[in-house]
Amino acid sequence: MSVEVVVVGSLNADRTLYVHEWPGPGETVMAADSLAGFGGKGANQAVAAAKAGGSVAMIGRVGDDSIGREMLADLRQQGVDVSRVRTQAGSPSGSATVVVSLAGGDNFIIVDPGANAAVEPKDLDPWPVAGAAVVLLQLEVPIETVASAAQRSSALLVLNPAPARHLSADLLRHVDVLIPNARELAAVTGGPLPSSIEEAASLAGSLTDVPVVIVTMGAAGVVIRSRERGRSTHIVAPRVATVDTTGAGDCFCGVFAVESARGATVEEATRLAVAAASLSTMGHGARGALPTRDAAAKLAMQLGQFPL
Ligand code: RIB
Repeated sequence: MSVEVVVVGSLNADRTLYVHEWPGPGETVMAADSLAGFGGKGANQAVAAAKAGGSVAMIGRVGDDSIGREMLADLRQQGVDVSRVRTQAGSPSGSATVVVSLAGGDNFIIVDPGANAAVEPKDLDPWPVAGAAVVLLQLEVPIETVASAAQRSSALLVLNPAPARHLSADLLRHVDVLIPNARELAAVTGGPLPSSIEEAASLAGSLTDVPVVIVTMGAAGVVIRSRERGRSTHIVAPRVATVDTTGAGDCFCGVFAVESARGATVEEATRLAVAAASLSTMGHGARGALPTRDAAAKLAMQLGQFPL
């Protein structure tokens, strides 16, 4: 099968700590529970896309260590082509500490990039990757590599600007679909943190170089800002029994990419991706409850959100 989605991005070993309350500065709190799992925004998005039925290849780097080998074996088992993931000698694999609040499932994340920091533009050779229809990028590998992938791509270029940072106009003009959360949108635009769907839509509209901006707003759903249509569309998120929101944005991006590669419209792909991301919050860890396409479609259909 030819590749539908190529992901250029990070692979991390996640350590998740569940806490009843966030520690303040200088404070120590005890975790109520903990979990070791596989993560990394790039790898999470690749697995979400594969779980949704996509044919997915990944470009990235792991360290020459046992966790790196385990991460690759897991990706293979999930159906992701890892033939373009290189092993970085002398560097540990990337890792992340994820702290999740037991009161609501919100999180914060600290990443130690390890081998992800060594992903360089020459890792993209040969390019394009087997005629992929979608190239999916995030910001946990060096920005030069992200920029190089964006410049080379003639596929649909989807960028999830996470972790948040300001982006050059030169990079943004290559992006077809930008998928930030509210905080990332504020960082990309230099604007204030949007606290409502209306504020997010307005701020997204300031990115006039990007044809489509999809702002993920957690339980409030998402807002799609289309330059061509000159208007915004709000899609509500289904209510589910959330235990951990880690990786929900990654699930959204992966499912959106596969659906887009298969010819769905932006709104169709978004509706399915919202349902998938909601379902993904029902399990622990970044990949705890990634749904199949059928499960996501069933939930979206129940809400009358899908198909259009
Ligand atoms: O988006 C969640 C991911 O962010 C985690 O899996 C962690 O590894 C960091 O990359």
